[in-house]
Amino acid sequence: MSIKVNYNNMMASVIGQQGITDDELNKILPLAKSAHNKVEQGRGNAMQGWMDSPYNQTEVVRTIEKMAADIQKRFENFVVLGIGGSALGPIAVFYALKHLYYNELPRSVRKTPRFYVVDNVDPERMNALFDIIDVKNTVFNVITKSGATSETMSQYLIVMDMLKAKLGDKAREHIIATTSESKGNLIKLAKEQNFATLYIPDGVGGRFSELSPVGLLPAAVVGIDIKQMLKGAQDMDERAKSSDIAQNPALAVAALQYIAMNKGKNIGVMMPYADSLKYIADWYAQLWAESLGKEVDLDGKTVNVGQTPVKSLGVTDQHSQVQLYNEGPYDKVITFLEVNNFRTDRTIPNGCESFPDVSFLCGHTLAELMTNELKATRYTLTKRGRMNYTISMDKVDEYNIGALLYLMQLQTAYVGAMLNINTYNQPGVEGGKNATYALFGRKGYEKTAEEIRSAKPDDVKYIV
Ligand code: PA5
Repeated sequence: MSIKVNYNNMMASVIGQQGITDDELNKILPLAKSAHNKVEQGRGNAMQGWMDSPYNQTEVVRTIEKMAADIQKRFENFVVLGIGGSALGPIAVFYALKHLYYNELPRSVRKTPRFYVVDNVDPERMNALFDIIDVKNTVFNVITKSGATSETMSQYLIVMDMLKAKLGDKAREHIIATTSESKGNLIKLAKEQNFATLYIPDGVGGRFSELSPVGLLPAAVVGIDIKQMLKGAQDMDERAKSSDIAQNPALAVAALQYIAMNKGKNIGVMMPYADSLKYIADWYAQLWAESLGKEVDLDGKTVNVGQTPVKSLGVTDQHSQVQLYNEGPYDKVITFLEVNNFRTDRTIPNGCESFPDVSFLCGHTLAELMTNELKATRYTLTKRGRMNYTISMDKVDEYNIGALLYLMQLQTAYVGAMLNINTYNQPGVEGGKNATYALFGRKGYEKTAEEIRSAKPDDVKYIV
């Protein structure tokens, strides 16, 4: 396991008064241990089915690999229709593990179907997709745990209508449903129409579902070794059996973030120094925000907790956000994701000998430049007393990505337990969903519709 967490730069002994003292860390350990205990006790129960994902999917993996091989033979394009936890994981893993211009490669090089995820209902995006694919050689993976999400079901209806118009009865062969086995509309439709179906276990919520069929089928279709991803998660889980922060990196991060939040660090910046990990920051933002941003705790007390996740990319955002991180308010924790070995590299050639302020780069590689820029950013932030820590891995591969995702899921679960909140619900999201239903006149939402209708109209004096 090459994943390491280095949290020196979170500590007061390194960054000064903004940091965490050994005493503060030691004081929080009993709470961290009890959170660990709570998470361990909940393993596999209720909404903690995701903790079984690394272990209980032998049969599912076999089915998915067979399905993926069939899709690779029969189709040119694989399109995921889903949103939130049903889309961000597939996007993150695809970008992490496939060629960065995968879809542009010829089929002979890429070997597997082109890959798209439509995670919005912007009509321009939907129509743009239809401009570049032919539905006749495309398979659509409709992913929705609830089987009811308006965005995903709208996409499904549009796609199905097109498929039926072009293919008649054969339309059903172009849909794969990934959904709950026990509830929702998609499972009913899947049975009625005889779609190929994969099940999302009841105890696996959207944002914790990347290592379930939600993420495993899309990954397998583009040739990603899903067994290795699960193996990485399994090995991270082994480390997480310990309640000692020196053994369990997820618990260490959880304890540090919890203390940081109590010290007013309300913003968590996730800053990978690798383009391949750019969308891991996106996936993490959902996990962290939707799980920890809560109004009430488990005792019903109003707490309004959470830490706002911000996505950033090294080195690109050194030229935009890093100014703020160095000189703005002391309200952030910066997490660097560091890759020790890039999968390819390129030497910066000679050619500017008479310009010493350019030629100093010549002969070095882009990987060296990337790494040194990370070191430099970390150095300046540390010197200015800004909390930061680094999660590093030897290389970006299936095993390490599985381990990294699982580490982040665990870390989120531990912090949720430390905050004494329900990590797995999302009442704030439900509110918006219900208001949308009401605006469309859906039956059962009349009261909300009336509330919206009778809301005070906007005052023109505040409109410029
Ligand atoms: O994490 C979650 O539960 C949410 O973000 C869901 O994934 C999202 O709302 C989509 O839900 P569903 O998979 O039911 O369509």
